[in-house]
Amino acid sequence: MEETQKELKCENEEDHRRAKFEIWKYIFGFVEMAVMKCAIELGIADIIENHGNPITLFELSSMLGCSPSQLHRIMRFLVHRRIFIETNTSQSTSPSYSQTPLSRLLMKTGEHSMAAFVLMESSPPMLAPWHCLSARVLGNGSSAFEAANGEDLWSYTIANPAHGQLFNEAMACGARVTVPAIVDKCSDMFEGIGTVVDVGGGNGTALGMLVKAFPWIRGLNFDLPHVVCAAKKTEGVENVGGDMFDCVPKADAVFVMWVLHDWEDDECIQILKKCREAIPKEKGKVIMVEAVILEKDDAKEEDDLSDVKLMLDMVIMAHTNTGKERTLKDWVYVLGQAGFSRHTIRPIDAIQSVIEAFP
Ligand SMILES: C[S@@+](CC[C@H](N)C(=O)[O-])C[C@H]1O[C@@H](n2cnc3c(N)ncnc32)[C@H](O)[C@@H]1O
Repeated sequence: MEETQKELKCENEEDHRRAKFEIWKYIFGFVEMAVMKCAIELGIADIIENHGNPITLFELSSMLGCSPSQLHRIMRFLVHRRIFIETNTSQSTSPSYSQTPLSRLLMKTGEHSMAAFVLMESSPPMLAPWHCLSARVLGNGSSAFEAANGEDLWSYTIANPAHGQLFNEAMACGARVTVPAIVDKCSDMFEGIGTVVDVGGGNGTALGMLVKAFPWIRGLNFDLPHVVCAAKKTEGVENVGGDMFDCVPKADAVFVMWVLHDWEDDECIQILKKCREAIPKEKGKVIMVEAVILEKDDAKEEDDLSDVKLMLDMVIMAHTNTGKERTLKDWVYVLGQAGFSRHTIRPIDAIQSVIEAFP
């Protein structure tokens, strides 16, 4: 008995010791995002890429016109995080830096750039709602985004077109990661389909990629009027402005990616009903691309994306009025209430899964 109590005491002491270190990671949690933003704004990954081979600290600082000592501290942190690699060449006393797959994602341009997503999430209007999250939890009537910015995200992007453009570019970064994963695992879903409407398609990046991968498809990129006004012009894609709560343009299939998570169940059911009305009853389908949050016990299994999905749920809580990420049970509920007779869910190599629902 005494032995067990001693063991428990040791365990508690060890937990307490670990907790005292672990808490600092949370206290300084914002540093990772802030330093990444700094690296993107300075264009460090772009400079190293264009340089072609490892760049010394002095070359980098003279290209940026800044002090090597400040830059060295930024690079030391990013190297420690394995975002860049430090290589010491024998000819130089100055450290040299090269790219990693992660630093390439921080380049301002290029098909794999995630820079706009980092800049959007770290922008003042997106950071401000985090200060209002506890008030939202206590349910004082206002959403965190509204409390911080005076209006909801969609109205805010109308009043602040520069933020709207950054938001759409960030979504396009996400689409460039997710659509190839959809094409890879779900190409059969697009066989025999003449027209696809992308509901909440943003600047049309996702649909443009789908039409390129499946050239027999004619695409309709459907979003709020001010969004489609600024959307890309892509061959095979027509931009259509409107409100998905009123009506969705008719097509053989609806594609709806990262839209339903912005809305609570009743709103989500309304949108899904409009999507169902837009497709033919016999052979139509709605293809949803959304995260599926694993239930507590499943999450322990090897889903290494579980943590990111739960972070995404927090982001949605901070940035939308009513949105949420959904578990399988939640998806089954909204699909049933919207009148779909059956559905399939397929994992892809992304945060989201692909849910195909039939009338
Ligand atoms: C999170 S973004 C997703 C964009 C795109 N589907 C993607 O994944 O890259 C949600 C989109 O829904 C659009 N949206 C919001 N309310 C809408 C409405 N009432 N009707 C149509 N689109 C709407 C927004 O403008 C935005 O482009």
